[in-house]
Amino acid sequence: MFDIVRGLHILAVIAWMAGLLFLPRLYAYDAEQTDKAEPLRSEMRGLLRVWQTRLMKIILRPAMLLSWIFGVWMIVLHVQGQGWPFFAQPWMIAKLAGVAALTVWHEYLGIELKRVQAGISTRSGKFWRMTNEIPFVIAVVMVLSVTTEWTFG
Ligand code: HEM
Repeated sequence: MFDIVRGLHILAVIAWMAGLLFLPRLYAYDAEQTDKAEPLRSEMRGLLRVWQTRLMKIILRPAMLLSWIFGVWMIVLHVQGQGWPFFAQPWMIAKLAGVAALTVWHEYLGIELKRVQAGISTRSGKFWRMTNEIPFVIAVVMVLSVTTEWTFG
């Protein structure tokens, strides 16, 4: 059972990461339409905004929910077997800190989705390109934490 949940967790995480890496790119393209003339600018933004909404609704939200469900499921199975000290392991604390950071970033992208689509986002294309690598760096720390199960000393 544990291995099936772990496999499903990894699949959900792949989809979540794909969405987290792609959505800021769509925001960057949206912000960079300012130098285009009308009606091309509105046409491009219309298309980009449909993609942004679909990516959030069809990929990002379900994938985050499933990553959480399967992740928490594994925590329950671990706690049943090893008890609460499972949480006190440094690698698990690092993993959960990464989970918190990615979840906050996901929610921020959700807030920005409304702002971008209302035309009131103050973020530039450069901002979205620069922050685009953040989820990947967090993911490196998280994946290496679970695969090595590192500890101090
Ligand atoms: C959404 C909340 C999440 C929770 C509650 C969670 C929790 C867990 C737990 C309890 C395990 C089992 C660890 C073990 O038994 O060794 C696990 C495995 C794993 N997690 Fe997560 N996780 C979450 C999100 C993520 C994310 C965002 C990533 C990647 C960026 C990720 C990558 C992995 C990988 C690769 C494994 C398998 C490690 C292995 O089998 O050696 N998880 N997760």
